[in-house]
Amino acid sequence: MPLVSMRQLLDEAAKGGYGVGAFNVNDMEQIQAIMAAAKETKSPVIVQASRGARKFAEDLYLFKLIQAAAELNPEIPIAMHQDHGNSFETCKSAIELGYTSVMMDGSLKEDGKTPATFEENVTVTKKVVDYAHERGVTVEGEIGVLGGVEDGHGAGGTGLEHLTDPDQAVEFAELTGVDALAIAIGTSHGAYKFTKKPDGSVLKMDVLIAIHKRLPNTHLVMHGSSSVPKDLQDVINQYGGKLKETWGVPVEEIQLGIRNGVRKINVDTDNRLAMTGAIRKVLWESPEKFDPRDYMKPAREAMQKVVAQRMTQFGQAGHAGDYAPIAITEIAKGYANGTLSTQPLVAAR
Ligand code: 13P
Repeated sequence: MPLVSMRQLLDEAAKGGYGVGAFNVNDMEQIQAIMAAAKETKSPVIVQASRGARKFAEDLYLFKLIQAAAELNPEIPIAMHQDHGNSFETCKSAIELGYTSVMMDGSLKEDGKTPATFEENVTVTKKVVDYAHERGVTVEGEIGVLGGVEDGHGAGGTGLEHLTDPDQAVEFAELTGVDALAIAIGTSHGAYKFTKKPDGSVLKMDVLIAIHKRLPNTHLVMHGSSSVPKDLQDVINQYGGKLKETWGVPVEEIQLGIRNGVRKINVDTDNRLAMTGAIRKVLWESPEKFDPRDYMKPAREAMQKVVAQRMTQFGQAGHAGDYAPIAITEIAKGYANGTLSTQPLVAAR
């Protein structure tokens, strides 16, 4: 099956009332782990690469691996997404490679660190939307600023400094015509999100619900959504790691989000933890080993287990065969003739 439009995946998820995990990749083993989990659970899937990942793996290697994944798993709808594009050029280069979806993170300036103004965000995001939609490619925008730093991208901080304002979210969706909207509700990238199990004072599900009420048909995106489970932390620390005590986003809060318009859930850290724990275990228990396959195979299996679990928890499991993929060229026509709406439904306050 060719790569699928992310818009189609999210529209289908909205119809079915479930969320779709978007898993970050840098290399072959991670792509294989995601595809094995998608096959095992019969899930549609979003695979995403940050700018850092594209640089690490080199664009062509990474994209050919995704094409191989699509060829080897014709029954699985796969969208390939640029995570946190920092500029029009980054998004354009992903589209030229064949990505079916891009995130224009205009919440930050091009340096990927400094918060941008609302006007700057709208201008660059709209430019990407116009370019991408002409080519049938999906666009995710961001309003509000997440906490933490991932692959050198991020404003840092706790995630509470620049929460999304629901009124601004409405204005942003109307002015840009994005297909999906990432919002800031107190989450941050990486392992260190919360110092205790998060409650409403730090994880603002009320903000998410308020945005969903105003934008009932807009696909919302939760970034920084790893749960950072204690058992994965424990494996790392048991075999020589030094992670400090930390909490992520509880799965039940993500499920509450899914009941309130969240259709894309970004997960990277949990997979990194799972792989690192598995590698540490092998090298700790068998220090004589030196064949990378001895630790990459268990690492790949550990990641598959986490991804399959999330696919089930997010509700996408079992939905791979629900629909036939629409060609990207047809999606482009849909944007052009208005059958694929780019204007959000806005509910009165
Ligand atoms: P985590 O660091 O919580 O996995 O978040 C990943 C993410 O949001 C990628 O954009």
